[in-house]
Amino acid sequence: MTPIQFKVENYLANSFIIVEGKKNANNFYIIRSGKVRVMKENPVAGEDPFTIFGPGDFFGVVSCMSGHARIETAIALENVSLISVDREMFGVLIQKNPAVAMKIIRFFSRKLREFDQAITHLTFKNRVEEDPSHLFNIGEYYMKKRVFNYAVYAFQKFLKHCPKNENTDTAIQRLKTLKAPLSVPEPQSTGNMNRAYRDNTMIFCEFEPGNELFIIQSGKVKITKIVNEEVLLAVLKQGDIFGEMALLDNKPRSASAITFGDVEVLAINKSNFENMVQAQPQLATRLIQILSERIWIAYRQLENLMIRDHIGRIYDTLLIQIEKQKIKMAPKTTHKFDIGTKELINMVGLPPEKGDIMMVQLLEDKNIRLDEGKLFCSDIEELEKSALFFRKKSAMERKREINKNKNI
Ligand code: CMP
Repeated sequence: MTPIQFKVENYLANSFIIVEGKKNANNFYIIRSGKVRVMKENPVAGEDPFTIFGPGDFFGVVSCMSGHARIETAIALENVSLISVDREMFGVLIQKNPAVAMKIIRFFSRKLREFDQAITHLTFKNRVEEDPSHLFNIGEYYMKKRVFNYAVYAFQKFLKHCPKNENTDTAIQRLKTLKAPLSVPEPQSTGNMNRAYRDNTMIFCEFEPGNELFIIQSGKVKITKIVNEEVLLAVLKQGDIFGEMALLDNKPRSASAITFGDVEVLAINKSNFENMVQAQPQLATRLIQILSERIWIAYRQLENLMIRDHIGRIYDTLLIQIEKQKIKMAPKTTHKFDIGTKELINMVGLPPEKGDIMMVQLLEDKNIRLDEGKLFCSDIEELEKSALFFRKKSAMERKREINKNKNI
């Protein structure tokens, strides 16, 4: 077998290696020698705005594996030598070096948690808790909503993980009222690592410690989170993977997983996981693709939240819908959205009165109109320009303010 050669690229100090916003990114880089500065136009709160990477580190993976535009700019700080990995070569790389896959998966999982926390903070001004004692609050939430099977699950898990807590007696009381056992029945096993769940069942609950990830074999799974109210984060289907974050970060579950119809999953624990990454590179590739897509969406959401003008956020929200579907930007390309003005106002999170005024303003744009109640754009490239204008404007305003504060 001939050894696979990866491309080596050398860059002089101060040269740009990748540029944020550039489309059709089909490769990523692993640093062989030298230092690279990686930055974003809209640094995420809590993230180091000028991360410096060195030998063994990687960058450009999210855009390469998700097929979206670059979300970061990388500049050589000194003369650097890089390994360039094309998307199609990823499986080969993992087979040769499974440790790289594990490093990327761990790093991405951490990033995703950081981004999720920043989104929750910016959207709901809530602090993100990471303590199993909050299982009690989830139980109380579902109790109030009269979704008793979820409440039972949350209280049972609360008692398991917090047997001596100020709310323990209340949780026991609630379970007795609901005529439910105090402990959780073990999941039904259908063989090796296969599990079957009936419709409308909690596979796991937000805040629960977890040491397994799941691959959906059949059926659908909802990922939800309580942020004041229950928020639906995603509906996952056959082949999708979930539950990797708690497994990799040793932190409680960041969201709940609930079946939508009968579901079969493959449950993989930590030691099986590392073996599987080695034995089945396609699993690691799929997981990195999924994480890349989620990180891309989370970053775009954050970028959107940082736009100060409401109309700018509206344009950018429409652009995100187009980008998610990976529609190619070309002049005079039309697009019919599957949402109307109400859904758009909701997505942007504007109160209805404010939203109505903004919709009047949006529809004054000759490029946007309503077609049978759905929004219609007659030139998506023009829409992209409008969104970019507002993104840049907000970034400039923020920079100006930072500089002003520095000078005070
Ligand atoms: P974990 O934190 O272990 O448990 C909840 C899981 O939901 C999490 O791992 C991810 O697999 C998944 N998850 C979290 N946030 C999202 C999201 N925004 N979109 C899709 N899946 C998510």
